[in-house]
Amino acid sequence: MMTMPEPARSDVLIIGGGLIGLATAWRTAVRGLSVTLCDPAPGANASFAAAGMLTPVTELHYGEETLLDLNLASAKRYPSFIAELQEAAGGLDPGYTEAGTLVVAFDGDDREVLADLHLFQQSLGLKAEWLAGSQARRLEPMLAPSVRGGLLVSGDHQVDNRMLLAALFAALEREPQVRIVRSKVAEVTVAGDRATGVVLDDGRALAAEQVVLSAGCWSGQIGGIPPELLPPVRPIKGQILRLAVPEVFRPFVSRTVRYVVRNNQAYLVPRAHGELVLGATVEEQDYDTTVTAGGVYELLRDARELVPGITELPLIETRAALRPGTPDNAPMIGPTALPGLLYATGHYRHGVLLTPATADGMAEILATGEVPEALAPFSPQRFGRPQK
Ligand code: GLY
Repeated sequence: MMTMPEPARSDVLIIGGGLIGLATAWRTAVRGLSVTLCDPAPGANASFAAAGMLTPVTELHYGEETLLDLNLASAKRYPSFIAELQEAAGGLDPGYTEAGTLVVAFDGDDREVLADLHLFQQSLGLKAEWLAGSQARRLEPMLAPSVRGGLLVSGDHQVDNRMLLAALFAALEREPQVRIVRSKVAEVTVAGDRATGVVLDDGRALAAEQVVLSAGCWSGQIGGIPPELLPPVRPIKGQILRLAVPEVFRPFVSRTVRYVVRNNQAYLVPRAHGELVLGATVEEQDYDTTVTAGGVYELLRDARELVPGITELPLIETRAALRPGTPDNAPMIGPTALPGLLYATGHYRHGVLLTPATADGMAEILATGEVPEALAPFSPQRFGRPQK
């Protein structure tokens, strides 16, 4: 009689190799668990496109105070997370930079937007310094004379997300407990009312004690998961540009500069190696990743109002990627109603920032079964869908 081979088995199987999946794999392996991560192109989507802002205070929104707590905790964890990662990656620099963030306003109405933000920040005890336009220009001489005011947040930083990805890959390569399978997951397998692993596109079955879904905006499209448990994530398109700053223009800007121009918000993030990231549109366009003339035009038009010199820089990359949005703009992190199935998805605009908090929290849950208090508000079970 022919016997079927036993499927390869690991303690944890992670679906999706963006920053969240990769960092969760690393932190989980550090806890002594074996990990298989499945993704046909790990690190290729939103995590690669992102600007890498770590800006919980300047990206504050009304009604998102609970998320702010997690954002702040993750920002605080960044320096030690980076130091541990650099060591695990054999010394490879993960690209973390502490240079602060400046937010500037273009006209009087935009200044009001900033003044509102400042009041809200102050009401929550957050550190942000109000600057006159002239003070903002002293910090960033490339800013146009029209700049009407600014907010300096010296605690909001950045990480070069592409260097961070490279460091995570290097750390995972050195972890004998981790295996990366460059294939697409077709479905989660369920037996006896618990998740038991996955089946890949090519028909191979991989078994695991626990399955983590961290497939970004595609997380709702994995087969095998009971429909009422599928995460309510949707794609939010972001178009983003990269420019090169020739030596003679450096530093073009010395820190992250976020701005409001006629009520449109965007940002410039300078990299140590001379690149300038300019982002990003926020569009509900289903799974479309076309870079459009209109998207590029709007980004450059508003940036030129603030920093006219930008038109001199070589445009070296245009890209569109999809953020995983959720109904309340907050991530879904932790166990689902199906034993053995966990989610780490829906990070929307904060995936890079929330990478340490998510990865540490997921590793804790996977290793002990206990959900850290800080993650309780982000339970995947909060959306009140009918569950089994
Ligand atoms: N957090 C930046 C963005 O989503 O555009």
